[in-house]
Amino acid sequence: MKNGEMEVLFSREMIDRRVRELADRISLEYEGTEPLVVGVLKGAFVFMADLVRHLHVPCGIDFIRVASYGSGSTSSGKVRIGKDIETPISGRDVLIVEDIVDTGLTLSSLVKILRERHPASIRVCAFLDKRERRQVPFEADYVGFSIPDHFVVGYGLDFNEKFRFFPDVRVLKNII
Ligand code: XMP
Ligand code: MG
Repeated sequence: MKNGEMEVLFSREMIDRRVRELADRISLEYEGTEPLVVGVLKGAFVFMADLVRHLHVPCGIDFIRVASYGSGSTSSGKVRIGKDIETPISGRDVLIVEDIVDTGLTLSSLVKILRERHPASIRVCAFLDKRERRQVPFEADYVGFSIPDHFVVGYGLDFNEKFRFFPDVRVLKNII
């Protein structure tokens, strides 16, 4: 597929401005604490790297990888942990950072799993939100942009492991 077939939805400048706004809000709300920022691999790695560099509070960093049970599709149902975090979170403020909320299945499952470890608090920051695709009720605490039901790539998001490196978010067309 040629890059020319992809329309830019969010430019680097738009993303940068929005990430700073989110970081400012998060910094205010976490003032006096040292949250553990948990990135969901792989999609969140670019967003998380930008977000933490704009925080005004100290934070710890860890990563988790989730895998769907059953078929290989992203939204087949319950999830299990593919790679766990290495940090104990009991009594800790945890901020999960994810690339996109789609059906809501991944994050609702992940929050449930991590809650069993008794963190002091657990919140979710998602770069993108496709609200109309929800299958289970789920609200992220912080959202970069809400988008309609388009498949998007870039800024960490992929299609079959491609296009994660784009510095902006583009709409993938003609994917079949
Ligand atoms: P849920 O469980 O909320 O899953 O359905 C969210 C996961 O689905 C993937 N996803 C996308 N990935 N462009 C992508 O690159 C998209 O438009 C998109 N929509 C959903 C993604 O892996 C996310 O973590
Ligand atoms: Mg993902």
